[in-house]
Amino acid sequence: MGFTDWMYTIQQRTESTLDAALPQVRHAPSRLHDAMRYATLGGGKRIRPLLCHASGEIFAADENDLCTAAIATELIHAYSLVHDDLPSMDNDVLRRGKPTCHVEFDEATALLAGDALQALAFQTLATRCPNIAPERQIMMIHLLASACGSRGMVGGQALDLAAVGQQITQDELELMHIYKTGALIRAAVLLGAHCGNAPPDALEHLKHFANRAGLLFQVVDDILDAESSTATLGKTAGKDAVQNKPTYVSLLGNTGAKALATSLQKQTHDILSPFGERALRLHELTDFIVERNF
Ligand code: IPE
Ligand code: IPE
Ligand code: MG
Ligand code: MG
Ligand code: MG
Repeated sequence: MGFTDWMYTIQQRTESTLDAALPQVRHAPSRLHDAMRYATLGGGKRIRPLLCHASGEIFAADENDLCTAAIATELIHAYSLVHDDLPSMDNDVLRRGKPTCHVEFDEATALLAGDALQALAFQTLATRCPNIAPERQIMMIHLLASACGSRGMVGGQALDLAAVGQQITQDELELMHIYKTGALIRAAVLLGAHCGNAPPDALEHLKHFANRAGLLFQVVDDILDAESSTATLGKTAGKDAVQNKPTYVSLLGNTGAKALATSLQKQTHDILSPFGERALRLHELTDFIVERNF
């Protein structure tokens, strides 16, 4: 199967697994369930689920287990976007080509939808997976929790907000990006590998891969924010500069940020070499992260 077909297959499977896991609107509280579904279904590239599946395929992981782990990462991601767009954070009105959750519903509902999506992610990941030993599954839940917390995504968001209007160094910017975006991407890669009962040395190796891929992902997000259009992105373009956010583009310029992305892309591919052909999808996803236009 070619990459595009593979990607489409995983995206479809992710959509139907999310649909089944999310509460139905006909059940109370309807408005909250509606907001959760609105923020999660029918959009997004599903990069984290794709990475989870690609990593699991290296170890011939079970498809259903991979779907479970994959949607846990996507539920966290969806929650992080709902909160990221709130007026008290990035104050964005457009996400995935639609009004943001707090615009479509209201701020309190968006806040609660994010909270509930986070809880659902852990509820999902804690569902017994027959092919994974219980001890390993506990490690997986621990792994996702630390990726979301104050030394992961939420910590990165705190650094992001604190950096508004500030001059920060490239090291500080790298830490912020590794936390706010890299941590969840790393969790997605490692959860996929855990589904395939990957040995410790392979997990360690994939951690290096994911650290580079996660940073690469946010560097490209910064470039797209500066260079692309709102119509293509499905979210407001040019916001980072307007809001005075330090990014790789503000620090290194467009050319410098692109040179960094190219160098990270090469490092990311190089790290995968010990896995040979088995890492084909991870190689392809690395290129997709760079070549995407939204
Ligand atoms: C956007 O993530 C927010 C960041 C972490 C940079 P994505 O670019 O993965 O957003 P969707 O899921 O495809 O909409
Ligand atoms: C968001 O980063 C990262 C998380 C949601 C954790 P951005 O604020 O750059 O994401 P976009 O550009 O709004 O998608
Ligand atoms: Mg933000
Ligand atoms: Mg934002
Ligand atoms: Mg951005």
